[in-house]
Amino acid sequence: MDVKRTISQMTLEEKAGLLSGLDFWHTKPVKRLDVESCMVSDGPHGLRKQDENADHMSINEAIKAICFPAGCATAASFDREVLTTLGEAIGDACQHEKVSIVLGPAVNIKRSPLCGRNFEYYSEDPYLAGEIAASFIGGVQSRGVGTSIKHFACNNQEYRRMSSNSVVDERTLREIYLPAFETAVKRAKPWTVMCSYNLINGTYACENPWLLTQVLRDEWGFDGYVMSDWGATDDRVESIKAGLDLEMPASGGENDKRIVQAVREGKLDEHLVDLCCEHILTVNQRYLDHAKPSTPWDKQAQHQLARKLAAECMVLLKNEGGLLPLQKDQKIAVIGKFAKQPRFQGGGSSHINFSQVTSAWDELADEPNIVYADGYNIDSDDPDEQLLSEAEIAARDTDVVVIFAGLPDRYESEGYDRTHMRMPKCQEELIERISAVNPNIVVVLHNGAPIEMPWLDDVGAVLEAYLGGQAVGGAVVDILFGKVNPSGRLPESFPACLKDNSSYPWYGGEKDTAKYCEGVFVGYRWYDKKHMAVLFPFGYGLSYTDFRYDNLKLSANEIKDTDTLTVTLDVTNVGSMVGKEVVQLYVTDRQSTVIRPVRELKGFEKVALQPGQTKTVTFTLSKRAFAYWNIQLHDWHVETGTFGIQIGQSSRDIVLEKDVDVLSTVALPRAITLNSIFVDLMAEPSMAEILKPLIEMFKQSMGGSGESADGSNTITDDMLQALIAFTPLRSLMSFANGQIKYDDLVALVERMNQTK
Ligand code: BGC
Repeated sequence: MDVKRTISQMTLEEKAGLLSGLDFWHTKPVKRLDVESCMVSDGPHGLRKQDENADHMSINEAIKAICFPAGCATAASFDREVLTTLGEAIGDACQHEKVSIVLGPAVNIKRSPLCGRNFEYYSEDPYLAGEIAASFIGGVQSRGVGTSIKHFACNNQEYRRMSSNSVVDERTLREIYLPAFETAVKRAKPWTVMCSYNLINGTYACENPWLLTQVLRDEWGFDGYVMSDWGATDDRVESIKAGLDLEMPASGGENDKRIVQAVREGKLDEHLVDLCCEHILTVNQRYLDHAKPSTPWDKQAQHQLARKLAAECMVLLKNEGGLLPLQKDQKIAVIGKFAKQPRFQGGGSSHINFSQVTSAWDELADEPNIVYADGYNIDSDDPDEQLLSEAEIAARDTDVVVIFAGLPDRYESEGYDRTHMRMPKCQEELIERISAVNPNIVVVLHNGAPIEMPWLDDVGAVLEAYLGGQAVGGAVVDILFGKVNPSGRLPESFPACLKDNSSYPWYGGEKDTAKYCEGVFVGYRWYDKKHMAVLFPFGYGLSYTDFRYDNLKLSANEIKDTDTLTVTLDVTNVGSMVGKEVVQLYVTDRQSTVIRPVRELKGFEKVALQPGQTKTVTFTLSKRAFAYWNIQLHDWHVETGTFGIQIGQSSRDIVLEKDVDVLSTVALPRAITLNSIFVDLMAEPSMAEILKPLIEMFKQSMGGSGESADGSNTITDDMLQALIAFTPLRSLMSFANGQIKYDDLVALVERMNQTK
């Protein structure tokens, strides 16, 4: 189809109609011009295709599909290949089901552990979230199906999600909340973007021209269509001007009329309507050109894949005395309802109508040495005395107890936030009671976001299984018994308690105003800056084997900000089991004049190693790895100075580091006024030279350094320097005994501004 020609043949009414959905999940057809309707469907950790009775919170049934591990888990894989494979599998399912776009990935930053949708999101770190998202998008789109990266942007809470105004400063937006979208858009070219419900600095995301046009299209080069989150559109005419192409689902024709009227009254340029049509039809055509409805969808094979992927995502948090892996000849008690009914996905629009489920107990029930007890009820937080004593009896004479615990469905869902970070009381009490009868406890956790662990010291091992999808039970067993060596790493910090989180005082906001007062200090950027103890740091995770790091080499000791730096190092598996290590590269700015995080993740690689095997890992860093967002330039900027290249096993465990000097090639615009203070002026050597005589004059007029006549007061040269440092130029008129005139100062300012 020649998209432009087709649009030129459409009536204004047809075009206005095309800019919203036919129903919940389809774009509109224009039959007389052979414009076909295309389907979009939720995901993104599976396919939620509703045939009839569509609704948007998954109340009505969708087709049976494979529920893969949720975003919280897949990010923990720190493995681009895992995400590509997952994307390919979902792309195949979409092709089979004639779905043109899967509505994901969801990449909002985990500002607080409380956000109800954290289980869908990837990370507190924008670099990790961007890399993971780009790989997922690449996987899906390699199958000729589009993605919709969401929710653009600053949708970091569920509380008042449709009316809340996220008040975020420019630097924080650019350094924390936008880069995951930016990386994915620039690298993986998602076919569509979904703009979020909330407002950003006073303007709805869906009608924000800065966001949807200036940043997304002009800066990042997005060329697909932007769709609204479901029901997010406010003023449809304004949203068209801003760059929202498709309103979803639709307004029952109301907004179509408004669009037509606005064009007729000259309030909306018809060309903008044409442009939205062009964006939508171009993407639809891309899908139609690649449609392969005969693509097989082998659900059994995908269930096995879900198991394999889930195992790649699990994070071993604690393993004292090598309690894990378990041996089949050990006497084991499996306790906790989640062992039979695992919690493996979250609630809301991402909820998959899973094809089957494998629990850990399904895998273990036939083992002669393993006993089971419920321990708690899933539906209630209250401890049940009978279940507790049955669990104690089961645990008493066994070698090891494996307790399956975590958060029930009602704790985490789209639409609302958690109010605390604790597990249900019945589960905490279960762990406490069992620890009194058996010291060898392994806790397996099913949860979509961090929890507090008041019981951590009472148990020997903890395996974070996150929400691992419908095959999670098998994957847990694979890890517990060492068939698979755990290799996940935390994509988020686990704070010791909720109030340690930087957004804690402000999270949720005041009515509809959510001020992001913590700025760029989100997640480990905050805990590290505060030197605060955490339960488990970002990037952390254990293995059944050990790794050694050597030979860190930088391609140069000194570079310009326009150069690239190559970093290499060797990593060796020094244990006796095959394993995978996640090599993490952080950059630290050693002498910044800007208040920056201690270190930031700028690279990671997952490496598979046989026992004794060494591999060389290579990273290439460019300007962005060293830069912060400068609000004067409205651009990324690198300050001249020394930067540390740190290789870590987590954000808190740096094992190798080396420095590099980076020379900035961009001079910040000079804006000297009479109110500029000496410390800033003197920072530049050329200015210091000009100001030298004035400073001398100033010092003398202040009486110089030395002792007061009665000896009671001593002013050192340093003290005098410090005093002068924060004095503005204009004050010379007051302090230099009338030797400096206003006109002289004005001329001086002009001269300094012109000096190269
Ligand atoms: C959610 C989106 C979802 C859409 C369609 C919205 O409520 O925020 O993530 O894709 O519904 O179900």
